[in-house]
Amino acid sequence: MRHFLIDTDTASDDVVALILALRDLSIHVEAITVVAGNLPLDLAVTNALHSIEQAGTYAPPVYRGAGKPLLRPLITSEFVHGSDGMGEMNLPPPTLTAAPGHAVDRIIEVAAQYPGEIEIVTLGPLTNLALAVLKAPEIAAQVKQVTIMGGQGRGAGNMTPVAEFNLFVDAEAAQVVLNSGLPLRFVGWDCSTDETFITQQDIDHLMATGSARAAFCVRCNTTLIDYNARSWGKVGFDLPDPVAMIAALYPDVIREEIAAFCAVEHRSEATYGQLIIDEHRLLNRPSNASVCLKIDAARFKEILFERIS
Ligand code: RIB
Ligand code: CA
Repeated sequence: MRHFLIDTDTASDDVVALILALRDLSIHVEAITVVAGNLPLDLAVTNALHSIEQAGTYAPPVYRGAGKPLLRPLITSEFVHGSDGMGEMNLPPPTLTAAPGHAVDRIIEVAAQYPGEIEIVTLGPLTNLALAVLKAPEIAAQVKQVTIMGGQGRGAGNMTPVAEFNLFVDAEAAQVVLNSGLPLRFVGWDCSTDETFITQQDIDHLMATGSARAAFCVRCNTTLIDYNARSWGKVGFDLPDPVAMIAALYPDVIREEIAAFCAVEHRSEATYGQLIIDEHRLLNRPSNASVCLKIDAARFKEILFERIS
């Protein structure tokens, strides 16, 4: 049994990633830790609890984490995911509640509980993980793998021309994580905007299954669908967090990945949050991360659609 910890800023694509992880019988999610990002912390916690209820399997404890980035003011993305982060579904409050204790402490405890086995997947800004590794540097040797939905890979940014949202919200935290010695894999936004993009045909397929859970996963992404049409002229929606989650669950879906020295720009206003990837070793610095550049889109959709339906 593989042991996972998921850190999330729970908006609509995070919800799909959480549902698919909780319905994967090959892993056990030991904890869900929540960080402010897409949404203020309270709403992100509420949506994590909704995700567990929608998954319909088991209820890992959910822990409240950082309510803002290390240094910067919080930037949220209701314009992408809706005021509730769930496509304006305005669901009744979840019956589940968050566990006592802080997310950062729980990350440290779970790493110590499963040394060499714990696999962390981060779906939001890296504030919680940065705080954990600052408080307990030893977790770098205990964590088996960190898979980060973050960065723009070889593509463009989605918040600025060069910066992807999760790194743009807290670039300082991302640099702390890169300095930590944790085994890092970045899965950039570019991995969710190619053939992995959820098209109208995919949406029709999911709705035709008659699965209420599949319909929920489409419905909660309504604002994201509108945003893609309005801002990118595309019909459908990208699912960056589920792409990163499936890369973590099934690394064999990764079709291109490079090891490189990476850094996150945190001084420049023009390029704040950019993931600098020294792919051609121009800086002569040792690799400190791998960067996934492409996954098998057909396998991604096969696994995702089966899992959520
Ligand atoms: O840039 C995409 C990322 O930012 C995803 O994790 C999405 O949920 C938002 O957090
Ligand atoms: Ca997210």
